[in-house]
Amino acid sequence: MPEVIEANLYDYPRYYDLVYGSDWKAEFDFLIACFDSLAKRPVERIFEPACGTGRLLYRLAKVGYDVSGLDLNPNAVDYCNQRLERHGFPATTFVGDMVDFHLPKKAHAAFNMIGSFRHLTTEAAARGHLQCVANALCKGGLYVLGFHLTPTVRQPMDEESWSGRRGHLCVNTHMWTTDRNLRRREERFGMTYDVYTPTRTFRLVDEIVFRTYTVRQFRSLLANVAELEIAGVFDFGYRFDSPVELGADTEDAVFVLRKR
Ligand SMILES: C[S@@+](CC[C@H](N)C(=O)[O-])C[C@H]1O[C@@H](n2cnc3c(N)ncnc32)[C@H](O)[C@@H]1O
Repeated sequence: MPEVIEANLYDYPRYYDLVYGSDWKAEFDFLIACFDSLAKRPVERIFEPACGTGRLLYRLAKVGYDVSGLDLNPNAVDYCNQRLERHGFPATTFVGDMVDFHLPKKAHAAFNMIGSFRHLTTEAAARGHLQCVANALCKGGLYVLGFHLTPTVRQPMDEESWSGRRGHLCVNTHMWTTDRNLRRREERFGMTYDVYTPTRTFRLVDEIVFRTYTVRQFRSLLANVAELEIAGVFDFGYRFDSPVELGADTEDAVFVLRKR
């Protein structure tokens, strides 16, 4: 039985990035297609709220975008800034709360791809976030927002596992639903990182709480932020040429929101 450590998994950006950082190309190409085709102005300045390790940000910097981001977790921000600097870019990410921020210069596009938005567990926080993003965008700019909706005609997905390996480090992650309360709009997940190094094997354990959204609930939230309209909806296949119709069985959704 490996050593078990209760932890905030986001305190371990190296492990996060090993597992989730390798799967970037489809999202990267999709984002650029959105910027090129759905923004009503040229996109040069990009912002990522809840950027974590910035697995997409530094790659966007490498192809010429001016990038910045924020995250609540200082370890993730350090990791992200160090990588930006290693690649010759300024350390433009900072510690902050995506519910309450202000950018000194408006962005042409923002993105938030894999469900970080659902960390905001109240309607007020979610609304505050969308309003801050709207305020931070230029007119005609985009917010690409991906997260899992709760389908109303079948059970939502209950677990997922991912793996990453580099050299002698291997990390396997597992995430599973422990409680779903649709009345309170709250879903709880257990999550583990099993970490293998040549000298040590251990398990990091955390609990994650997400707010739930049906399509209707998300539309009703969005209606509070008049500046943002839906310019397109896609899924986690990230195929720009295959937009999806939102329905009662939609689960993974990527909303491309545009500032009017
Ligand atoms: C699943 S990770 C996503 C990281 C990155 N966006 C990506 O695509 O890999 C979720 C991130 O949300 C951050 N986060 C959670 N609540 C936040 C908040 N209120 N404000 C800013 N960041 C937050 C966490 O610290 C974590 O880095």
